Amino acid sequence: MGFSFNFRLEKKKPRKYISERKIKLRVRELAKQINKDYSGKCPVFIGVLNGSFIFLADLIRELSIECEIDFLKLSSYGDSMISSGKVKLLKDLNAEIKGRDVVIVEDIVDTGLSLKFIKNLITGAKPKSLRFATLLFKKDISKLKFKIDYVGFEIPNEFVVGYGLDFAQRYRNLKGIYVF
Ligand code: IMP
Repeated sequence: MGFSFNFRLEKKKPRKYISERKIKLRVRELAKQINKDYSGKCPVFIGVLNGSFIFLADLIRELSIECEIDFLKLSSYGDSMISSGKVKLLKDLNAEIKGRDVVIVEDIVDTGLSLKFIKNLITGAKPKSLRFATLLFKKDISKLKFKIDYVGFEIPNEFVVGYGLDFAQRYRNLKGIYVF
């Protein structure tokens, strides 16, 4: 797709930031680590909609352990590139996660507000264990006070799209990550 893709919403030309190949290799590495950490177990991977759907799909297909999946949906940034600072639950879990090993799968951690919200929500459901995976981590601006267990790439404070990430719901289908 690359630069021939029609970026209609922005006047500036986005720049390729992380290639499809690099993402693939990194997802494979994360899966290898998860296979090791959860050997003999059957964790529930909880994707945070909408952005994580591609990462989650690729990640679980690299796993050799058994697993289950479910999804949560939170309020998004809407058409803005800046967090509203408020998080709302739009879709709750269907899976029973009490006593289960749970891995939350995010596309990107920016301020960390969403993940903090999810941590409180999931902890209340009493899982046996809880870990966090994110493809992208804006480490410098995150206000998180806890560790993210599986990080694909640490990135600077720039707005990125592609590989599931959107701007105003567009560009999720780009195979690489692009920066505006
Ligand atoms: P946080 O609560 O500020 O950490 O934001 C998390 C959510 O904001 C992500 O799951 C994305 O949906 C969205 N988001 C944050 N930064 C970006 C970005 O650079 N591109 C696209 N979406 C983003």
